[in-house]
Amino acid sequence: MVVNAAFWRGKRVLVTGHTGFKGGWLSLWLQRLGAAVSGYSLPAPTQPSLFAAAQVEKGMVSVLGDIRDLPALINVFETHRPEVIIHLAAQALVQASYQDPVETFGTNVMGTVNVLEATRQTPGVHAVVIVTSDKCYENREWIWGYREYEAMGGRDPYSASKGAAELVSGAYRSSFFSSSGTAGVATARAGNVIGGGDWGVDRLIPDMVRAYSSGRPALIRNSRAIRPWQYVLEPLAGYLMLAERLSTQPAEFAESWNFGPPEPDTVDVAEVADRVTSLWGQDARWEQDRTTHSHEAHTLRLDSSKSRARLKWRPRLSLDTALERTVAWYRAALRGEDMRTLSEGQIEHYQAGGGA
Ligand SMILES: NC(=O)c1ccc[n+]([C@@H]2O[C@H](COP(=O)([O-])OP(=O)(O)OC[C@H]3O[C@@H](n4cnc5c(N)ncnc54)[C@H](O)[C@@H]3O)[C@@H](O)[C@H]2O)c1
Repeated sequence: MVVNAAFWRGKRVLVTGHTGFKGGWLSLWLQRLGAAVSGYSLPAPTQPSLFAAAQVEKGMVSVLGDIRDLPALINVFETHRPEVIIHLAAQALVQASYQDPVETFGTNVMGTVNVLEATRQTPGVHAVVIVTSDKCYENREWIWGYREYEAMGGRDPYSASKGAAELVSGAYRSSFFSSSGTAGVATARAGNVIGGGDWGVDRLIPDMVRAYSSGRPALIRNSRAIRPWQYVLEPLAGYLMLAERLSTQPAEFAESWNFGPPEPDTVDVAEVADRVTSLWGQDARWEQDRTTHSHEAHTLRLDSSKSRARLKWRPRLSLDTALERTVAWYRAALRGEDMRTLSEGQIEHYQAGGGA
């Protein structure tokens, strides 16, 4: 058992960014666990979206709004009285952050301030998990995985905004949430997440699915970039397990946590592209995109020893299985299958310990 179902039954949980890729999966999972789920977010960032395809809204209260709007957010807190908050709302794309740095910093930094401020102003919150990114670290382009205590940084606006969100969380924690009776505030840093239902622009697998489903070759940039790939439910399990521990032992767990894949699954973009292409079959093929793009880090690895040792969290799906499930999801969506049932089936299978 990765997640303690008894803990979540009836728990009031607020997910920000519930209309997005990870937030959609998390909201579905929490619904299956019997939590009273509310969500606060802008509308789904893509069309199609997991939110629409899997009818995520069906089992929760969905409030549409901007995370930069503090009074609206406080109103949601006062109305829904969350006990646990998982903050995912963000401008989540590196390339888009070059196009609109102001929106990226506003959403990712002030959005985090607002979630923590609303927590401070609303009694009854036990646990807050602020989701940042593996990109929050000052990238040294070295071969080792980053550990939680290493320096924050970020050369592009997205990465810097996530490093800044970490600093904001640390300042709020030590200033307002360190005495007994206050919420436990932790941050979570995951890797490059893959799974069905992501239609983000400039993301490897969504770009490939868009190309292959319309009979075009996929154009791939930075094919030698090395990333920690992981199945979407793996870091989500980490966030849930962390929130459970934060609720009961905030002093011990209110810190930062990495949730990365097993070491062999940190591979380059070309390797993932090759495996997706062969799973897709037919005439699928990819080509190197030779147009120039803004800078992205070359090598990124995460060290998750701390989460394994202290949360007893561990990744369970190999990259091959993760890719099989991901491609199966998109294929089913293209065939017009019931994607809520299929997504719930993938969650059940994972929750029951199905890995490999
Ligand atoms: N997908 C990954 O590989 C990955 C890796 C590491 C970290 N993360 C982080 O995980 C979180 C979720 O990522 P995702 O992949 O689901 O992204 P996504 O783009 O699919 O979803 C982002 C969500 O945030 C919402 N949002 C954006 N701007 C908002 C605003 N101003 N106010 C309110 N809501 C707003 C969107 O509507 C959407 O619901 C983000 O914080 C992201 O930085 C993602």
